[in-house]
Amino acid sequence: MKTSWRLLKSVCILSFLLGSCSTYQNLRLVDAGEDANVTLQVDASNVTGRPIPETLFGIFFEEINHAGAGGLWAELVSNRGFEAGGQIIPSNIWPWSTIGNESSMYVVTDRSSCFERNKIALKMEVTCDSNGMSTNLCPSGGVGVYNPGYWGMNIEQGKKYKVVLYVRSTGDIDVSVSFTSSNGSLTLASQNIIALASEVSNWTKKEVILEANGTDNGGRLQLTTTRKGLIWFDQVSAMPLDTYKGHGFRNDLFQMMVDLKPRFIRFPGGCFVEGGWLRNAFRWKETVGAWEERPGHFGDIWNYWTDDGLGHFEFFQLAEDIGAAPVWVFNNGISHNDQVETENVMPFVQEALDGIEFARGDSNSTWGSVRAAMGHPEPFELNYVAVGNEDCDKPYYKGNYLEFYDAIKKAYLDINIISNCDGSSKPLDHHADYYDFHIYTLASNLFSMSHKFDNTPRNGPKAFVSEYAVTDTDAKNGNLLAALAEAAFLLGLEKNSDIVGMVSYAPLFVNTNNRRWMPDAIVFNSSHLYGTPSYWVQQFFTESSGASILSSTTLKGNSSSVEASAIFFQTNGKDYIQIKAVNFGGKSVNLKVEVTGLFTKFYGSKKKVLTSGSVMDENSFSNPHMIVPHETLLEMGEEDLTFVLPPHSFSSFDLLKESSNIKVPISDSNQKTSTM
Ligand code: AHR
Repeated sequence: MKTSWRLLKSVCILSFLLGSCSTYQNLRLVDAGEDANVTLQVDASNVTGRPIPETLFGIFFEEINHAGAGGLWAELVSNRGFEAGGQIIPSNIWPWSTIGNESSMYVVTDRSSCFERNKIALKMEVTCDSNGMSTNLCPSGGVGVYNPGYWGMNIEQGKKYKVVLYVRSTGDIDVSVSFTSSNGSLTLASQNIIALASEVSNWTKKEVILEANGTDNGGRLQLTTTRKGLIWFDQVSAMPLDTYKGHGFRNDLFQMMVDLKPRFIRFPGGCFVEGGWLRNAFRWKETVGAWEERPGHFGDIWNYWTDDGLGHFEFFQLAEDIGAAPVWVFNNGISHNDQVETENVMPFVQEALDGIEFARGDSNSTWGSVRAAMGHPEPFELNYVAVGNEDCDKPYYKGNYLEFYDAIKKAYLDINIISNCDGSSKPLDHHADYYDFHIYTLASNLFSMSHKFDNTPRNGPKAFVSEYAVTDTDAKNGNLLAALAEAAFLLGLEKNSDIVGMVSYAPLFVNTNNRRWMPDAIVFNSSHLYGTPSYWVQQFFTESSGASILSSTTLKGNSSSVEASAIFFQTNGKDYIQIKAVNFGGKSVNLKVEVTGLFTKFYGSKKKVLTSGSVMDENSFSNPHMIVPHETLLEMGEEDLTFVLPPHSFSSFDLLKESSNIKVPISDSNQKTSTM
């Protein structure tokens, strides 16, 4: 141990010189000495005394790392309207590519689309033919274009996909629509669109259902022909039929969110909302209505194009589908590089009011009717809006904020308004229902920040900790060290939930083909996914929102590495006390729990532990379950409330109140592992 510690220290010193390892070094210093004893005194004399807000734990979805485009939004085609290359023609059609060379075909873009807000379409001139008399015979597979989607489409045997496209031609057409393997050599599904010139001389919508007869998670969509002529394509979409409720959400990623039982969802950003420049910010009106008519936009903060299939409507639908309260963040006239002065901000205020009406207005209202036409006549429940993101220090923020605040409160008195200014240390100088608090830091710092809100004045607006995470060298791609520090931080927020109203980790998703921010909670590619340890820590808090916090005191004895909390919750008519404890140090800790008050006798119920051999361990596609919570039935003797906290671990113990009518078995030691 000593030798390896010395070795580790040298590695750390070396790494420190290179700018890493700092927190890890601190963490190991805590390890010195024998196993520690810690006592948690829990006062259960008033289990209903301190309710935890119903909306305490939620999620934050940002269009970052291809979380939506190429992620949760199940659309397989990237740049479906050919707009991504810009409006100058002929434009770049990336990631589309051609099949065939200039002797048989060529493609350009032009401004011939039938859609006013996205005029660019693809024009393909085929110069080869399948006519045996022709001097320029097409290759047998035809010529055309293909789209690889977002680093390969996940085409699965037996699954059905709806392909929709708009087509126009000067002659008859025979276009083969196929899914193929990544290099086009294997056809996984195919159908032909055949039409006479009279039918397609104007733009025509065509739809085919393709059923895959093979699997390739790096597949592509091809549009090919062996017929000479001029063809235009626009708005080409390929959607799996089995998205959540047919609403367009990729099932596996959707389920990962639902499993966290989030009580709210903040969207659509983050910096994504602000934009590097206002002209590239997310503006909700550009993202509603028929998908074919959406212009899409280049998100210049995370540097990628999105077709905006996941738009304002879909975010509200998502919130409804996962049973979470929507928290809409809108642009307040401020981007990273430009700002609208307060005297000119009214159009942005109106845009926000219209966006709220879109969600909440009845179906006869101007914007409520747009929502109704999209298939949701009933209003969405929108009770929280955030005026911008991380803009408090910008010169026009306060002025702009007040314009938004007054106008929104005048129209919707009950809406909670979230300010970007931090009220945790000093009171805000403006009205707000919540203030946004973001923290990205090293592990030891976040661990100690479990006490951040202990001394915050109780009489101001509540904190919305809408972004937190351990980052940098302490977290890498998402490791146990980061997760344990976050667990301690969350325990502190849970205990301070009289003044902390809402909490969410950031970012939620990353497509590994385009990591823009590390670490993240859920890691995926076209076909696989896993949760990082930070994801699994959040899963320990699924009982917390709406439960009660019990007053508790941790007597730390010879350990400074433990943070713990106690909550009371009810489920299936039974009463539980749940103890959660993080052991940030490298030695086991004996945690003695002393409960005083209304009930003090318990049956063991469930124990859950998250740990691993090394704090730097991470899950991966090849080992997605290396660090996941392990659940066992909790064995307890009479009066025995001492639990062992393994080194570097996060544990929860569900204690069933004795008088609850059903006894649970306490001796079955079959281990159950949480799986995705
Ligand atoms: O979560 C990633 C980014 O971090 C968010 O877009 C921004 O709000 C913060 O700076």
